Amino acid sequence: MTLDTHSLRCTECGRGIAGSEVASDFRCEHCRGLFEVTYPWSAVPAAPGSLSGIVSRGSHAGAGSDWGAARLPNPSALRWLWQERRTSTLSIDQSGVWRFRDLLPIVKSFDHAVTLREGNTPLYEMPKCGAIAGVDWLLAKHQGMNPTGSFKDTGMTAAISVAAERGFEWVACASTGNTSAAMAAYAARAGLRSIVFIPEGKIAWGKLSQSMDYGALTIQLKTDFDGCVKILTELVRKFPIYLLNSVNPYRLEGQKTPAFEMVEQLEWQVPEHVIVPGGNLANGAALGKGFAEMKHLGLISRVPKISVVQASGANPLYRAMQDSNGDRLEPVVAETRASAIRIGSPASWKKTVEMLRSTGGWVEEATEQEIALAKAQIGAEGIGCEPASAVTLAGLKKFVAQGKITPEERVVIVLTGHTLKDSDYTIDYHRGELLTPAEIAGATGKQWAEHSALMKPPVVLEAEMDVVLRELETRMNTARVAQPV
Ligand code: F0G
Repeated sequence: MTLDTHSLRCTECGRGIAGSEVASDFRCEHCRGLFEVTYPWSAVPAAPGSLSGIVSRGSHAGAGSDWGAARLPNPSALRWLWQERRTSTLSIDQSGVWRFRDLLPIVKSFDHAVTLREGNTPLYEMPKCGAIAGVDWLLAKHQGMNPTGSFKDTGMTAAISVAAERGFEWVACASTGNTSAAMAAYAARAGLRSIVFIPEGKIAWGKLSQSMDYGALTIQLKTDFDGCVKILTELVRKFPIYLLNSVNPYRLEGQKTPAFEMVEQLEWQVPEHVIVPGGNLANGAALGKGFAEMKHLGLISRVPKISVVQASGANPLYRAMQDSNGDRLEPVVAETRASAIRIGSPASWKKTVEMLRSTGGWVEEATEQEIALAKAQIGAEGIGCEPASAVTLAGLKKFVAQGKITPEERVVIVLTGHTLKDSDYTIDYHRGELLTPAEIAGATGKQWAEHSALMKPPVVLEAEMDVVLRELETRMNTARVAQPV
């Protein structure tokens, strides 16, 4: 059991409220800003030598049991406890989110945490993609390896647990597909009823099928993601429906935990750079919070630069940084085949600008052709991801070319969704049916050569041995796919 464990702070006017006082649209009633979760220890100065011991080491109890007294926990004890939980058979210990529950005591009792054993995702070495981008050391934190195939699970386990504890019957989200898939699954596990608003015809089939499979009421609105958000925001003011978009600060508490996992997997080393895709712009901010908290608690001594990459057709943050250094953001009409990040009016842009300023990260954009190439390159490394995730590699290439990232610096790209989420995209690409002539014309000669080497359209043959042998002979005599130098 944890005591009164957290409060909410408006990230714009700084006003603090109890978690139970927040309005149904999760906006500050004074300035319309977004909230973040704070804990008694958030405000304790990170003075060396002021560390207390962890009080409760019981595998099931939160180690932060008496942090209400506002002392900083002991970083070594936390590391030990988190490691210890890896061998436990308890479901919350097996969750890569709740394993770190000492730093997210957002529910009164962890006993009812709604978990699908999310998190604990792999950190893959990416030597080929690293060589392509021009860095010696590239890793991919593959959040697509979560139970519903995207990073949204880490946030949803947290926020659905809060919804269930607060007694809601209905939960809802507007989504480009992954949030809805995750919400539907976790709501089903919790016995809650869920409503999904998605832009009609603008999300990948895999994601649409998930929300139906997990039993959500799926409403396709004849608008885009931003239009879905508008409707839902009004709806939650009228009905007791718990809003699960990323304006909900509890989502971000779950989404900060991949930062913990990442450095744990690196034996508490911090990479120089972390690169994330940008859509509604909550995830980069969540990871930034995770790193900042670890630094505050003395678990790490510095934070990485966290950079964000958007699709060129859905690039309001990129423009905002170019035009006003992030002071103002003009919404855009978004258009990209990376449908997960087809968002023109991102809710959490101010949080992300704050994160960029505090970590020193940058924002880039990637064209459709660059996204397709990066996705195929990640696929060819045996990893694979959905199109939105591939903007990270496309952006990394640019950061290296601009001299912002140097070859010896350690880079982690966050792959946010599984390749099976959008198999139509992949099939169209390999059949040569994805890119338009204008997009192809926009590729450099080198890029086009890379595309040609990567495209692997399926071969249709008569079911006769000699036909198959002849085909194989031709293939085996042609050179292997050019390896990156
Ligand atoms: N990558 C994937 C695969 C996503 O699904 C999303 C967002 C993002 C990146 C961007 O993250 O919004 O925090 O900047 N998908 C949301 C959804 C909007 O509804 O599934 P963000």
